[in-house]
Amino acid sequence: MATVLLAGGAGYIGSHTAVELLNAGYDVVVADNYSNSSPEAIRRVEKITGKSVKLYEADVRDTAKLTEIFSANKIDAVIHFAGLKAVGESVQKPLMYYRNNIDTTLSLLEVMAEFGVKNVIFSSSATVYGEENPIPYIETMKRGTCSNPYGWTKAMMEQIFEDAAKADTDLSVVLLRYFNPIGAHPTGMIGEDPCGIPNNLMPFITQVAVGKRDHLTVFGNDYPTPDGTCRRDYIHVVDLAVGHVKATDYVLGHKGVEVFNLGTGTPYSVKEIVEAFERVNGVPVKYEFGARRFGDLPEFYANADKAAEILGWTTQYTLDDMCRDSWNWQKNNPNGYRD
Ligand code: NAD
Ligand code: UFG
Repeated sequence: MATVLLAGGAGYIGSHTAVELLNAGYDVVVADNYSNSSPEAIRRVEKITGKSVKLYEADVRDTAKLTEIFSANKIDAVIHFAGLKAVGESVQKPLMYYRNNIDTTLSLLEVMAEFGVKNVIFSSSATVYGEENPIPYIETMKRGTCSNPYGWTKAMMEQIFEDAAKADTDLSVVLLRYFNPIGAHPTGMIGEDPCGIPNNLMPFITQVAVGKRDHLTVFGNDYPTPDGTCRRDYIHVVDLAVGHVKATDYVLGHKGVEVFNLGTGTPYSVKEIVEAFERVNGVPVKYEFGARRFGDLPEFYANADKAAEILGWTTQYTLDDMCRDSWNWQKNNPNGYRD
């Protein structure tokens, strides 16, 4: 079976993808510098699957270290998760974001070329559709204007992959545009483990529910949406991980660049998420309405038809599953992997 290198594979989406790749029979190598993760996540991946993962502590920008990894393992495909992802921080520290995110991509592509590795999947984001495109977003739309440096790094990296594939027609690239991943593995053993104050909605909700934070501030209730709060396309992280397995099957048999949205196609509002979380788990989540957050769009969601048609991938988990599994992870691991 093929071997897949997960760059940034100890993180939230990478660790869930490792589980699904191992279950599908792939061998998995992980390279991560733990800037936003812990090796404990991979130990738990091994427990869940009963299989082993070759784990390297490595900065993916470091071509010498990558050369060591590619020399020691016959890599068939790379999934590039390694990146900084906090939108607000990217506004404060744009150079750090451009340096880390773009350099990881360049180093990976350079070392892949050196070793003749032709298959790569990239963690992109719905954010590249920018401010202009109408909803639902479909892959044939042009990339738009991003509202922050994080989003621009994703747009630029998509462009880098496209140019690399033009120059080397043997390259097979899949760009996956994620919508809003939430939830955790149903075992409750791996999940999202943000450092400090969470930026994203679901980890904030679970930390309020577990008593670590007093209340959630809902950013704006005067948007042109049915209940006035923003709507997003939330997707269970296990569905997203299975999408990576399908994309790996695909990338190994193709050439050129393909873009896929990974979302459910159904938007939910912030208010609906809070209410579903309280109902499913029987725990209160105190919240207050606050000002809008700069850069937030009122609503976006995916047209996910292309992934269904070409990859044979559709989502299986409901919003109730997402709320149940997020809470299961948080209450079993109140301090994340530090427990
Ligand atoms: P995460 O922070 O949990 O995972 C990213 C991993 O990359 C971490 O383990 C981190 O330590 C590692 N990393 C960062 N820079 C590195 C470097 N230079 N060398 C080695 N490792 C490095 O985030 P995630 O939610 O799992 O996201 C994975 C990818 O998906 C990221 O590229 C992110 O931008 C993208 N994405 C995430 C979301 C989301 O909402 N979670 C949405 C769209 C896209
Ligand atoms: N929200 C709150 N309070 C909070 C946190 C979030 O009301 O404390 C709201 C936001 O205003 C937004 C919704 O919850 O309406 C979702 O916010 P997130 O921060 O969880 O997610 P975003 O849609 O802003 O961004 C996510 C990822 C980005 C990615 C983007 C598009 O975090 O990496 O989706 O894919 F770029």
